[in-house]
Amino acid sequence: MEVPAARVVFDDDDRAEVASLVTETLSRGSLTLGPLTARLEEAFAAAHGADQAVAVSSGTAALEIILRTIGVAGADVVVPANTFYATAGAVVHAGGRPVFADVSPTTLALSPDTVAAALTPSTAAVVVVHIGGMVTPDVEALRALCDQRGIALVEDAAHAHGSTWRGRHAGSFGVGGAFSFYPTKVVAASEGGMIVTGDAHLRDEARIYRDQGKAGFIGNDHVRMGHAWRMSEMSAAVCLVSLARLDRALAVRRAVARRYDEALARLEGITVIAEPEGCVSNYYKYIALLPDGADRDQLKKQLRTEHGVSLSGEVYATPLHLQPVLSPYADGPMPVAEDVCARQVCLPVHSDMTDVEVDHVIDSFARSYRAL
Ligand SMILES: Cc1ncc(COP(=O)(O)O)c(C=O)c1O
Repeated sequence: MEVPAARVVFDDDDRAEVASLVTETLSRGSLTLGPLTARLEEAFAAAHGADQAVAVSSGTAALEIILRTIGVAGADVVVPANTFYATAGAVVHAGGRPVFADVSPTTLALSPDTVAAALTPSTAAVVVVHIGGMVTPDVEALRALCDQRGIALVEDAAHAHGSTWRGRHAGSFGVGGAFSFYPTKVVAASEGGMIVTGDAHLRDEARIYRDQGKAGFIGNDHVRMGHAWRMSEMSAAVCLVSLARLDRALAVRRAVARRYDEALARLEGITVIAEPEGCVSNYYKYIALLPDGADRDQLKKQLRTEHGVSLSGEVYATPLHLQPVLSPYADGPMPVAEDVCARQVCLPVHSDMTDVEVDHVIDSFARSYRAL
């Protein structure tokens, strides 16, 4: 049996719905920033308890637009060391300097202590990443710390569609939240991103930035250094259908996670990144840490070659301060991030995963781990 690392899930009904929306769009002839994008923005905002949502071309664009609107040019922006390149890339593209901070070993996210250690007199913003889809329980304390210092809290919620902390959705704790609809994400649009915010100014700026910095859709006045960051109506069609199955996806993914919790508790030496009380994760990733010295490459190879199980990509195998292109911003070791990046494995979680697949992963993982 083969269990892939990730699966893009659109069943027959979903495909028929996408086809119908695309046909409707082609007949209408409005292929970008049209009625489907507006419908998606409304539906996404409603599903995430947000006042405003602005659809863009990618999660990276969403981050860069938020950072440009805050105005980080020439300033420092704190980002976790264990995130995707785009979190820091967006800071650099917006004219800021990423300052890497270490993370908590239990949440793998920024904590008030690690942020405090990274603040400088020129910090303009902090970007918290809800790693693997878990909103960190420190998010309110992070907001309080930022408010005290007069700096902006931004949420990189690229992993966290539908995830909540104490009933509040990812994206609702900072000045703005940036989501990604990259194909492997829990809500996918082939390519795309979304900004959610309670701030009408950020909404208005985002609409300007995404369309080449134009003051309005019609007309030719360019008032910001914007970009071609629009979402196409085709992407909006795919994304609307994907979003409509978010609740079902969450239920399946969370049930898979509970089975993994039970199974991994029986394996000595494995530490699961557990969901804290009050947190509802979408389990974009199910993360566990191997004991010190365990050979992750060998474990992954054995799972793949002997059992047909591909582990999902780590979040992340190499922290950003050790990425060649970001070395100018590195400033010393990040012990926790380095440790959790080196020891983590992510078990496959699919939005339509079957019990038989979960049984196979559990059994194969236990055998391969014990054989190490
Ligand atoms: C944490 C994080 N931030 C930002 C992004 C960027 O999203 P996109 O690929 O849609 O630009 C990703 C995408 O994988 C991500 O995982």
